[in-house]
Amino acid sequence: MELTRRTFGALTGSAALSLALPTAAYATPQHRPTPPHTVTFDRYSVIIDGRRVPLWSGELHPFRLPSPSLWRDVLQKLRANGYNAVSIYVSWNYHSAAPGSYDFTGVRDLGLFLRTAAETGLYVIARPGPYINAEVDAGGYPGWLTATAAKARSNDPVYLGYVDEYLTAVNAVIKRYLHTKGTGSVILYQLENEYASHVNDATGKGYMEHLYAKVRADGIDVPLFHNDKGRNGYWTPGSFPTGTEQGRYLYAFDGYPSPTGTPPDWGYFGTGGPKGGTTASPDTPGFTAEFGGGWFDPWGGAEFGGLGYAESRRTRDAGYERRFYLTNLANGIKVHNVYMTFGGTSWGWLPAPVVYTSYDYGAAIDEARNQTSKLVPMHQIGSMLAGFPDLAELDRAEDTAADSTAVRVYHLANPDRGSHVYLLRNDTSKDASCTLPVVTAAGTLTVPADGGLKVGTKDMKLIATNLSLGRRALLYTTAQPMLRAPGADQDLAVLTGRPGDPVETVLTCRTRPVVRVLSGAAQSVYDAQAHTLRINSALDGLAQVLVEGGGSDVPLLLLLADDTAAATLWSQETDAGTVLVSGPALLRTADRSGTVLRLTGDTAAPSGLEVWAPRGIRRITWNGRQVDVRSTAGGSLLARRQLAGPAPVRLPALTGWRYAAENPEAAADFDDRSWRVCDLTTSYSTTKLPAGQPAVLFADDYGFHYGDVWYRARVADATEAQTLALSYAAGTQGLLMAWWDGQPLGTDRLPVPTKAQDTQGTWTATATFAVPAELRGTGPHTVAVLVRKMAHEEDGGANDAFKSARGLTAATLDGSPLTWRIQGAAGTDRVRGPLNTGGLYGERSGWHLPGFPDHEGHGWQPVTLPHSETRQGVSWYRTTFRLDVDHDVDASIGLTLTDDPARAYRVQIFLNGWNLGQYINDVGPQHTFVLPGGILGTRGINTLALAVVADGTTPAGLPQPTLTLLGAVAGGVPVTPVSSPGYRHP
Ligand code: GAL
Repeated sequence: MELTRRTFGALTGSAALSLALPTAAYATPQHRPTPPHTVTFDRYSVIIDGRRVPLWSGELHPFRLPSPSLWRDVLQKLRANGYNAVSIYVSWNYHSAAPGSYDFTGVRDLGLFLRTAAETGLYVIARPGPYINAEVDAGGYPGWLTATAAKARSNDPVYLGYVDEYLTAVNAVIKRYLHTKGTGSVILYQLENEYASHVNDATGKGYMEHLYAKVRADGIDVPLFHNDKGRNGYWTPGSFPTGTEQGRYLYAFDGYPSPTGTPPDWGYFGTGGPKGGTTASPDTPGFTAEFGGGWFDPWGGAEFGGLGYAESRRTRDAGYERRFYLTNLANGIKVHNVYMTFGGTSWGWLPAPVVYTSYDYGAAIDEARNQTSKLVPMHQIGSMLAGFPDLAELDRAEDTAADSTAVRVYHLANPDRGSHVYLLRNDTSKDASCTLPVVTAAGTLTVPADGGLKVGTKDMKLIATNLSLGRRALLYTTAQPMLRAPGADQDLAVLTGRPGDPVETVLTCRTRPVVRVLSGAAQSVYDAQAHTLRINSALDGLAQVLVEGGGSDVPLLLLLADDTAAATLWSQETDAGTVLVSGPALLRTADRSGTVLRLTGDTAAPSGLEVWAPRGIRRITWNGRQVDVRSTAGGSLLARRQLAGPAPVRLPALTGWRYAAENPEAAADFDDRSWRVCDLTTSYSTTKLPAGQPAVLFADDYGFHYGDVWYRARVADATEAQTLALSYAAGTQGLLMAWWDGQPLGTDRLPVPTKAQDTQGTWTATATFAVPAELRGTGPHTVAVLVRKMAHEEDGGANDAFKSARGLTAATLDGSPLTWRIQGAAGTDRVRGPLNTGGLYGERSGWHLPGFPDHEGHGWQPVTLPHSETRQGVSWYRTTFRLDVDHDVDASIGLTLTDDPARAYRVQIFLNGWNLGQYINDVGPQHTFVLPGGILGTRGINTLALAVVADGTTPAGLPQPTLTLLGAVAGGVPVTPVSSPGYRHP
């Protein structure tokens, strides 16, 4: 159907309360296909099945939460908090250990993720790359791609051949969950990522056109887009050959403005960037594919003054969100994705050199899956966009000003329906109070009539006129509309603001209504001449104002909720209508059967429960248990007793440690005959082969892409040996240690970055070691070298930076080269994936796995922690522990390590064989590592194996690690254990 503005108005008439969310279609856990849907757009918004859908999306990366059951937890938290979409990257390296090998099973089950998102009622924006950046190793490129002739991010046929292989595999999964097929909720698909190189030449055009054609050929029929790195007007509609776009290509851009600056006017109506405003793309909706919701932090924590992600969250708090995201709405952004909304964990060898293990990002949902106060504005705005369709179609309206210079006003209006929206921002460091002329159905009025309109310091709010609240017309409100739910017996509307804010709401009432304040404080005045009811209140918790009569036979219950009350106010759609719940920490699902409403959700403490349910509901269950309720005057069902909070979680002390030292590779007599001889003479690396070296030493060329790598060389005669010079490249905080005939020569480390995005130059070094006189003499002698490679660089500049060498690059003894053998990771763990393990002796031998025989006969000793030793090299500590968390408690648990920061050592943390991160004691800033449920058995036995690499320059060893409770709620989702294969005797 051709959509004209007229048919459109009809489709989004007041009766069309909620937007076309997939909720209803996927309410049942069984995956039932529904009829195909259409996904189109115009200059205002995305249009799904003919309805406008402003997308309020949050970014999360399935690969940063290696426990598929918990995907549902986080997705439900997004949905409950007002998001209607989730945007995801797919990281090529996570799914491909070798060319031609693709794995979408287990923790890599992308199909399961997409199915869960659809079941949760979230649309999906799919961003599979092939390049993603994302602070992951090589920006998502698989390690093996470094050792090919491929010129990445270009039209090079070798590269495109690999890309096609990957896209065929990933698109086969995505295609199954396209909303247009009726089998999923993927509605948008991104090509590449911030591709700012070769924008105008054949290389870039050829590449992007190839991606476009390939993705279409793979059956992806939803609108495609690219995320321009800033509003540069790159890859706008019209970039692809005539006839191929057919109205199915959108323009999007990314923005990460400084939280300390003034929110930029980027967007459809905006001015920012070389292609500001509509000039970039007049016929597509304002679309930010990524807008900063936090930021990342490098080793050492330079970005946030060593305070870590808590500081990212503090500097990009709820006020930041309101100021920046409402400014985005004011600038016509209708597809809004916040990067990140749940950051998660860069576990194993996923982190790019620019980040450490935690990718918490300061996001609205923290790494431990806790809902933070940053969700509150998201919930308020997301619900508003979903509940008030007028806001999906807004034009810029006449400029207007408040009577306070501290308040900047944006004015927008719906062209068809007469509603007006005013967004008021205060960038000053003082609270502001103002009045504002607004356009209403009763002419221009200066509001509020009583008192002032408050805009807090560094804050923003949206107020509206001429909206419909179910069956009643709202003349204006100086509170921010959050939700409306027309019901058979009464209409409900929720208005929000900061605690203490004075708010004024005026309804049109033909006759004098009966007004009852059921809870909280509010005053009302009826103006018989103007036929208006004015309600004033200072927001404090949840005030309930019931308006009866006044020209409508259906009462209106007005809920005035401050942020604190709004944080526990949840709405869900059921087949009988909208359900509104107040009290618990989270409402996950609401299903009606007959007169029973089954609710599931979380409580973080004993909580009240009040439910406004559709007509006919008489009984309520909460997490399967009947709740004793009574009816209230406000039409709700109120629990007579509080819902229980979580039972206490007791975490055991970690005892029973066993210890073994390793690095036998350092010993002169170690048998390295099975190791690969470094005999290659050419490489595809961007690092030039150093002059005078007989062979390539780069680890990638020998197939060792992740984690540690060992080198051994034999020296026939060292009578005169003086200096061993070892050049290496390993990324920020990479490390090299060397031994001569089993005796340590020392350790060299690459620097701690001084800012989040460090330069490449500091990530290589040449370590020189003097050969001790007593170790010289006729040979043979052995040199052993361990290199901790921290990751491949990203490739933001499209210059194959990800191919710069890792490992030893050159080695000379008094200027003469040596001949080496190399050993890294022993194959790929099929279950845990290619990024789980590196090449330590213990990793090659299964010391990290559950069930490894760590008893005395095998060289392991009991040890009491803290344990101190000064020894260059690798030691392992293993123990098991049992957890017995109540089955209905979702406990998020971490492992904490803290020690004297003068001690130079680092620890790789293996839980049940999964590499959950790296701790660097003398660098930080991370001390607590999230152990995701599913990998962590919260009711059973777990194996912890810690691999300690010590510089040998200071005392090292291991402090007493502790389990830390990071969050606990009664509720959660059922968690299926993640397969964690144990040790098998060779
Ligand atoms: C963007 C990029 C993302 C991520 C982000 C910073 O420019 O597209 O992948 O790297 O920056 O976290």
